[in-house]
This record gives sequence, C-alpha cells and structure tokens, in this order.
Amino acid sequence: MKSQVEEVRSSFEAEAAEVNSSASLQELKVRFLGKKGTLTALLKSLGSLSPEERPLAGEALNALRDELEQKIEQKKLKLIQAEDAAAEAGDRVDVTMPSRGRPAGAFHPVAQTMHEIVNIMQGLGYSVVQGPEVEEDYYNFECLNMPSWHPARDMQDTFYFPDEGGERKTLLRTHTSPTQIRAMLQYGAPLRIVCPGKVYRRDNDPTHSPMFNQLEGLLIEKEVSFSVLKGSLRELMNGFFGRELKNRFRASYFPFTEPSMELDIECVECGGENSGCRICKGTGWLEVCGMGMVHPSVVRAGGINPDEYNGFAFGMGLDRMAMLKYGINDLRYLFNGNVSYFLSGRDA
Ligand code: PHE
Repeated sequence: MKSQVEEVRSSFEAEAAEVNSSASLQELKVRFLGKKGTLTALLKSLGSLSPEERPLAGEALNALRDELEQKIEQKKLKLIQAEDAAAEAGDRVDVTMPSRGRPAGAFHPVAQTMHEIVNIMQGLGYSVVQGPEVEEDYYNFECLNMPSWHPARDMQDTFYFPDEGGERKTLLRTHTSPTQIRAMLQYGAPLRIVCPGKVYRRDNDPTHSPMFNQLEGLLIEKEVSFSVLKGSLRELMNGFFGRELKNRFRASYFPFTEPSMELDIECVECGGENSGCRICKGTGWLEVCGMGMVHPSVVRAGGINPDEYNGFAFGMGLDRMAMLKYGINDLRYLFNGNVSYFLSGRDA
C-alpha cells in the first residue's frame, strides 16, 4: 500500500505540473479524487485489507487525499490570479468600451491666456464685461480726456467709419478702456470688472499687429489707495506666471488716469542675468501693463460722483502675455493660419 501511495502522489505531481488552466485543473481533480478517481479506487480497496493493515493504510490514504485537495486549491488560486492579470493586460477585448476618438483641437494661446487671467481676476472678485469693437469716438477718446486736438490720440491712430457727412464719429476701438465708461454707466458703483477683447490700431511690424487683444481692469470703490492697485497686479502676475516675480512701478502718462504708472516685471526668460537677452534686451525688465488711479472726470463721465468714489484701472496686452508665458518670439505666429509657418518657424 505504501508504494501505491507514493505512486499516486508522484503521478499527481507530474500531471499537476502540466496543468495551465482552470479547466484542466478540474479534469485533474476528477481523475484523482472523483468517483472513479485513482485515489478513490484505492480508498475503496481498503475493505479488502486485513484488519491489522487497514488502520495504517487508511491513515496514509486519508492524509494523501487531504494533501491533494490542498494542492489543488492552491493551484486554483494561482491560476485565477494569472487569468485575471492576463485579462487586465488586454488579452480580453471589452466590446462595451467607448472608442478613444480624436482630440477636437486646443485653445489658441491667446484664448488660453485670457481664460487664465480672467480666472485669477474672478478670484479677486472681478466680473467679466464686454464692449463693442466698433466704438464711438466719444467712448474711445472724448470721455477718456482725449478731445480731438489731444496729442495722445496720435499714438492710437485707427480705422474710422466716416458717416454720410464725412464726420469721423465711429471707429474700431483702439483700446479696451471705453468699456470702463460703459460699465460704470451700466452698473454704477462699487464696481470690479475686467474686459478682454480685440482692439485695432494702424500698426504692422514684428511686434505690432493691426488687431491685437487687451484686457482692461477697473475697480471703483470708496477710498481706494494706490497700494490696492499694486497688490492686485502683483497677485495677477505671480498667479499667471506661477511664481514670485520681481516687479517695479514706473511713472508714466495716460490722459484718463492720474497718477499713471507702467508695471515692469522681472524678465521671465533670463531673470535679469543675461545682458544679451533677446526678450528684455538686456534690461532685465519687461513692460507688461499700463495703469493708474482713474481720473475724476472719467469717473464723472461714468455717472459716478468722484467726490464719493475713486478707483484704479489697468490695461494689458494679452498677446504679449501669451508670448512671454509660452516663449513665442514673433507676434505674427499668433495670427497666421498656415501650420507650416509654426512648424518651420519661418515665413512660409
Ligand atoms: N488703454 C491704455 C492703452 O491701451 C492702457 C491703460 C488702461 C492705461 C487703463 C491705464 C489704465 O495703452
């Protein structure tokens, strides 16, 4: 009997080594432990043994049965794990899975820049307003302290739509500042708005295009100090470029703000380290934004009492911000629809 036990064990071991699926494991189980299985047959033959031999042989056979059952269970677990892993690795096709599809495109860098800046400003409590691109001379110049004779108009020559009498009262807006007046007239004070949009000037060279994008900001509240303006713009720049940047506020002039300033930020390309830097021309600074405290007569033109309310305004070029953030070195890349122009980096 002892040798028979050994024989069964070794033939089980040999066959088990060949098993590589749950189905063949089940067959193995039947062959050894099933009703007509090899081990079952031996157990049945116990009856033919003498009473002295029977207990020992019975013990050995039962132990072998327990051992085989245990080995089969272990093997089963291993097979299930391997089969699951294979299914996960993609051997199985999931016909219910939706197809991947093709990406529908991406935001234009200027649109993306606009969304990022608007998001930051919304976090500071500003709402978005829009104004017309075809604007009246009154809103674009007149009520921003630029009467027809004002020399500051020379910097913003644009495209006029002469009316029937030949008068030039309608034009493509040269900046987003006219929306300051429109928003004040519409919503009154207090007010926090940003206005992104297209503006037009008679300019065309590698750094100027006849159409470009600006973002206007306006805050009108009571007793607003210059430090609120400085803090808000620092927050905006650091948020947009994703890090703490040095900044400086330089005295400047705009007819519709008093005092007026220009904001420079540390060169995002060289940080002021490279005297030959193409982006900052070795100065270490980048001019990013015009601003100032809103002139009292502009507040009045907006239907708000300047003795009660004051505030600040700023205007920045979105195209320039996009170029600085994404390292685009020619403004015209932003508006050219020819893809090879982008790929080769040359005029196509
Ligand atoms: N409108 C000005 C420009 O286009 C920028 C500006 C906006 C300056 C608001 C001061 C306040 O140059």
